[in-house]
Amino acid sequence: MRVGGNVIGKLLRCAALRFYFHHVNAFILSNCEMTSTKEQLLERLKPFGQQHLLNWWDELSADQQNALAERIQQIDFALIEKIRQAAGNKEAADGAADSAARIESAAAPRSVVLQPTTDAERNQQQNDTALGEQLLADGKVAVITVAGGQGSRLGFDAPKGMFPIGPVTDRTLFQIFAEQIAARKKRHGGQIPWLIMTSAATHQPTVDFFQQQNHFGLDHATIHFFQQGSLPAVDAKTGKVLMADKASICLSPDGHGGLVTALESSGLLKQLADAGVEQIFYHQVDNPTVIMCDPALIGVHRRRESQLTTNVVKKSSPTEKMGVLVDVNGRLEIIEYSELTEEQAAKEDESGQWIFWAGNTAIHVFARTFFEELASDGCRLELHVANKKVAHIDQHGQPVEPESPNANKFERFIFDALPLAKNALIVEGNRDREFNPVKNADGSDSPATSRAALNRIGREWLAKAGHNIPDGTNVEISPLIALDEDELATKLSDGTVSVSDLTDAD
Ligand code: UD1
Repeated sequence: MRVGGNVIGKLLRCAALRFYFHHVNAFILSNCEMTSTKEQLLERLKPFGQQHLLNWWDELSADQQNALAERIQQIDFALIEKIRQAAGNKEAADGAADSAARIESAAAPRSVVLQPTTDAERNQQQNDTALGEQLLADGKVAVITVAGGQGSRLGFDAPKGMFPIGPVTDRTLFQIFAEQIAARKKRHGGQIPWLIMTSAATHQPTVDFFQQQNHFGLDHATIHFFQQGSLPAVDAKTGKVLMADKASICLSPDGHGGLVTALESSGLLKQLADAGVEQIFYHQVDNPTVIMCDPALIGVHRRRESQLTTNVVKKSSPTEKMGVLVDVNGRLEIIEYSELTEEQAAKEDESGQWIFWAGNTAIHVFARTFFEELASDGCRLELHVANKKVAHIDQHGQPVEPESPNANKFERFIFDALPLAKNALIVEGNRDREFNPVKNADGSDSPATSRAALNRIGREWLAKAGHNIPDGTNVEISPLIALDEDELATKLSDGTVSVSDLTDAD
């Protein structure tokens, strides 16, 4: 379901003043609308039929009343209504046909920078790498880690970045990223600001964890935690905002596309500009084998003057749960895995190649100025409506645990920026090396597969340096020891590191 971004843009422009709230920043209100008495709140809610939010007002403590009033004032009920209507109309009228036509006319992306196979391509990649390294040395690159997701598929209670994944030491995902950044700084010399986007659920535990870990040795002034917004869930049938309990509204993160608004309203986008940062390396918290600040990717992105570059890999099977990059009528887009039937996902072109092959690894490079464009006039990314199961209380205050989707949630996707980008670029990555995410508790993309990949990569690097490790012995190479096989080989040969430091062999 797609909703016109311009409608949303207009609504956002109508708002007189944008606030950045610590917990909720995505909906907008004007200063003069700040009210707090029950009567004033009722007046605000009545035109939208949302008075039920105050059903238990008189039973609440003063603190609870204040918190609820603040939340209510942060919600743009008119916007919710518009989005729901637009989505509903689209679905009723031509939504299914639209979506089918879009998938039908999708073609494999026309222009992809593939993995190099010729000397000329390898030379070009080396030149791009040198360019990326220079940008890193000049302090022109920052990193954004999106870590606001609730990781429900993994079934891990803490933020996903705290998940232990190292095959020998149980290093966490956050530690691996931190060590990669530290090693890049050391190698190239420039500063690399690290921006970590959290959500209401993941913010405090993430900040606390970094403090406990002494920011993994990084200068804490270069790490910036900022919180994405939250949006309310509404009853799918009635559009009424759902209450989590008598004092609070059901809220959920506004999607990784919430990054655009959160970056701007936190002041970080301006800070990056002031610091002379030009390129932003973006990655998800779930992939420990991401090549952080990949100089080759940053270099080709810069050389081609791309506003948004996306790393893709060939899907392992047509139904693998990855978004796919496609051309739709000349426009570069991502079609999410949830939009394709099994049959569509396996569709081939005349040469027998999958049309939907180019899986989005969610490793991107953004030009900083592109974020500024996206954030201008409110966020230019669409809001999507998703039908989800949301536990809530009913009108009698009784808890409801739905068995099927009962609610609309709203979120933005960062990859909706692709069709808006000038010179958007797709670059094929090395799947085995770069894409081994932790998503599910078991099976594919699980801790077991991701840990096995780290182990395999370590063994391959050691084998290239002439050390074959027996089966059953685990290998883990800290990025502080080596960022790549060449660095490892050098350190092994000059005696800085010994094989026994890298395995769990007795
Ligand atoms: C995502 C992509 C998919 C891609 C795949 C690669 C979406 C909708 N799809 O799928 O195209 O092929 O990764 O691994 O993203 N996050 C936030 N805030 C939010 C929601 C998510 O920060 O409100 C972060 C999560 O912490 C995580 C990332 O975004 O780092 C991905 O979220 P997730 O919902 O797990 O996406 P996938 O379904 O795995």
